[in-house]
Amino acid sequence: MEDRARTKAVSVVGAQWGDEGKGKVVDFLASSFDYTARYAGGHNAGHTVIFNNQKYVLQLIPSGILRPGKKAIIGPGTVVDLVALLGELENLKKSGIEVRGRLFLSNRAHVIFPYHREMDRAAESARGQAAIGTTSRGIGPAYEDKAARRGIRVCDLIDTERLGEKLDRVIAEKNVISSASYGHKLETAGLYESTLEIVAHIRGLVVDTTVLLNNALDAGESVLFEGAQGTMLDIDHGTYPYVTSSNAISGGATTGLGVGPTRITGVVGVTKAYTTRVGSGPFPTEMHDGEAEAVRTRGNEFGAVTGRPRRCGWLDLPVLRYAKMLNGIDSLVVTKLDVFDAQSEIKVCTGYKYKGSLINEMPAEIEVLSQIEPVYQSLPGWQKPTPQAREVKDLPLAARDYLNFISDALQVEIGMISTGPERDATIVPRGTKLASWL
Ligand code: GDP
Ligand code: IMO
Ligand code: MG
Repeated sequence: MEDRARTKAVSVVGAQWGDEGKGKVVDFLASSFDYTARYAGGHNAGHTVIFNNQKYVLQLIPSGILRPGKKAIIGPGTVVDLVALLGELENLKKSGIEVRGRLFLSNRAHVIFPYHREMDRAAESARGQAAIGTTSRGIGPAYEDKAARRGIRVCDLIDTERLGEKLDRVIAEKNVISSASYGHKLETAGLYESTLEIVAHIRGLVVDTTVLLNNALDAGESVLFEGAQGTMLDIDHGTYPYVTSSNAISGGATTGLGVGPTRITGVVGVTKAYTTRVGSGPFPTEMHDGEAEAVRTRGNEFGAVTGRPRRCGWLDLPVLRYAKMLNGIDSLVVTKLDVFDAQSEIKVCTGYKYKGSLINEMPAEIEVLSQIEPVYQSLPGWQKPTPQAREVKDLPLAARDYLNFISDALQVEIGMISTGPERDATIVPRGTKLASWL
């Protein structure tokens, strides 16, 4: 019998509310893998990769595409905006990155149409004070259509006659819903024609990625699963309803790509040295204005795509403990350690109190989470620059203490430390599981 488990298949997931630095981490790891595959979400993601003074922001296309010769998959669990995908392809082309023959789009992925974006905006404005703060990319409405079994998939784009019929049917139904719910008639004139125009550019990418990926694993080719969003934005396990509409956790890789759970050989969780969140919803360790402002400025905490200022807070160990459990994290990556280089005192939330008593589980109700009183422990800052460090021993003692504190509290190794946005501002401690995956 073959030992399929030996084929390297590692999942990279956000352990917080997104924007943990997954793009940088995936780019770093991707050179050691044959494939990188996205399993959930769409162009609500913004994954930043910086090397040779060049900045790339990938939204749907896996970050591994930036590594010459490596292959990339956009899986069945994703939602694909054709205009956005074309824009991303054009940007890569402008940067001299050729994707033909190494980028594959699943025929089972669902398509985001402009009417999904319209519905996203209309739903947000109808929510008023309770708005989620979505990226207005039409992500939620596209997943709603998928669950309602009226979505249009990539495979439906290929037969143009059938596509026309399906679009007519869906648009009629969506117009009734939109008019009744929001008093808004959708703008769909010319949609069929403009869709066909884009399809001509992307049809060469379309394959059955499920077969491609499983065959690749059978042949011993390694795969890196690129998570989008973060654990606390997961539709089932996050701070519902202030979440995205897909499974961001590591399990999403199996449903979103069609690979069995037994195939995954490792899970990497990514966390910042602190916490950020974009959009609304509870955030127990949110810093007060002055502190948040300082971290936002030093960490350049503005949305990679939307430019929205990110809310900033202290590191939240209950969130990371929850993320470790949900994802089965084997190795933790801590990014943006350098943002604390000037900090004199660092607070870490070690537990939650609700109505005066310590609680051990992540509350399901956001009303409870909003009233959490974080229990903090203060650690001394190092007040020395870290971006030049290339080994753990180059880091100031207080920085190593901070990392050890996190590792001890969570009982998980720290497999990578990032001290700057560039590829080389990265430390991989020797002897870790993560080091063995390189
Ligand atoms: P992602 O969505 O998880 O890929 O993260 P984003 O790209 O949205 O946001 C992370 C931001 O932090 C990007 O601007 C990165 O260039 C930047 N970044 C990543 N790692 C580090 C780091 O260690 N230090 C600093 N200062 N910036 C980093
Ligand atoms: P990456 O992959 C941070 C947030 C939005 C909003 C909520 C729902 O870059 O980490 P949606 O448009 O998905 O319906 O919005 O989820 N959100 C993200 N926040 N990083 C992301 O992706 C996000 N993708 C969605 O801000 O609060
Ligand atoms: Mg991002």
